[in-house]
Amino acid sequence: MRTFSTKPVKERALLVGIHHPQTPFPVEDCLEELALLADTAGVEVVGSVRQNIRRIDASTFIGRGKVEEIAAHVKQNEVQVVIFDDDLSPAQARNIERSVRCKVIDRSALILDIFARRAKTKEAKTQVELAQLQYLLPRLTRQWTHLERQAGGGVFTKGPGETQLETDRRLVGKRIALLKEELAKIELHRRTRRSARAGAFKVALVGYTNAGKSTLLNALSDAGVYVEDRLFATLDATSRKVYLDPERSCIVTDTVGFIRKLPHDLVASFRSTLEEVREADVLVHVVDLSNHLFDEQMETVGGVLKEMGITEKAIVIVFNKVDLVMDQDLLTSVRRRFPDSVFLSATRGIGLDKFREVLIRQIESDIEEREITLPVGDSKTLTAIHHLANVLETHHDNAHVTIRFRARREIVRRILDQRKKQDELAAFD
Ligand code: GTP
Repeated sequence: MRTFSTKPVKERALLVGIHHPQTPFPVEDCLEELALLADTAGVEVVGSVRQNIRRIDASTFIGRGKVEEIAAHVKQNEVQVVIFDDDLSPAQARNIERSVRCKVIDRSALILDIFARRAKTKEAKTQVELAQLQYLLPRLTRQWTHLERQAGGGVFTKGPGETQLETDRRLVGKRIALLKEELAKIELHRRTRRSARAGAFKVALVGYTNAGKSTLLNALSDAGVYVEDRLFATLDATSRKVYLDPERSCIVTDTVGFIRKLPHDLVASFRSTLEEVREADVLVHVVDLSNHLFDEQMETVGGVLKEMGITEKAIVIVFNKVDLVMDQDLLTSVRRRFPDSVFLSATRGIGLDKFREVLIRQIESDIEEREITLPVGDSKTLTAIHHLANVLETHHDNAHVTIRFRARREIVRRILDQRKKQDELAAFD
């Protein structure tokens, strides 16, 4: 009996990496990561090509000779997509495509494709579609997107709806405006949700993709966040209340993973998700210590945070996956370099108590003790204190009440603002 496989045939891809005097990463490592990204996008890597270049060629990026070599490779190995590790200008991609006679995409397109496949919620889908359209707008004349989309398969074809790419720039522009409006609404909703938990201590997990952020959140709570040994398993910010001891808790948010050369359009569209990072009281930078490129990955994360304008926040560094690190010298040297960091294994539950202690210390250092005297009639401030702070002592006299309380710095500021407002209103009467 004949059986038919329903498994989709994978597209055959050739990877291209360059070594340039200004690239900090060895080309081999870049290609290894690109292969992982390609695999995540469901593409079969059949080979790779590398090139040392001193100067980027304006029309072909890597020079005519190398393009011809790639064309021969494509023909010989029935390659269907050539993936460059570096960003190509629309004209460069077009020129290379013409010579190699198959689809040519760059790393940004690949990452956008993965994000499109991963996006589950309306927010993530809207953010990715916006980023894809902004990326595609200058490339709309390219033929493959149109044809592949109609054929219904392949990398970078699962994208911004079925109609956009057949439409002209004007329609795409309109769609972009609409998505921006939708995102503004979603952002408003998110802001309301955030203000509802304004009293809580907020921790945001950041880190390179696959570092183990979701696993750590699951280990700390029973969040049930999707974990997979794949890049960008989580695109949506998931927040959970985590109890650190019987009295103290915090809200921990797992955010989208970072990666080298994260497309700018994507960072811009994921603004509202990343807002959770900006709003956090402390960032926990989760690092996969078992990855030999952990140093470079830490630098990349630092770079993305800088790009987001986050430079002054308290950061706790967590070195994860220590169960996979056999090299004691590495552990000793990293411990020496980062004496305040935490070493743990989220899957094995090693080091979690120490991590909780560090978070408790962060919470404690954020707490102030205050005494405030207010008129008994100021019920708004009184309610705020009782609702948001930990009241230690209350003393009444005829017209006033004096309260000693402990609260987070942010809460103290809110209570004092509230009190000031009441004083100003009283001055008007
Ligand atoms: P993104 O969603 O891509 O940002 O990934 P993430 O940082 O949330 O990583 P995730 O928690 O999805 O974990 C990625 C992979 O690493 C999974 O296969 C986990 O099981 C594995 N992992 C996480 N922590 C550990 C650890 O401590 N030890 C080992 N051996 N594996 C771990």
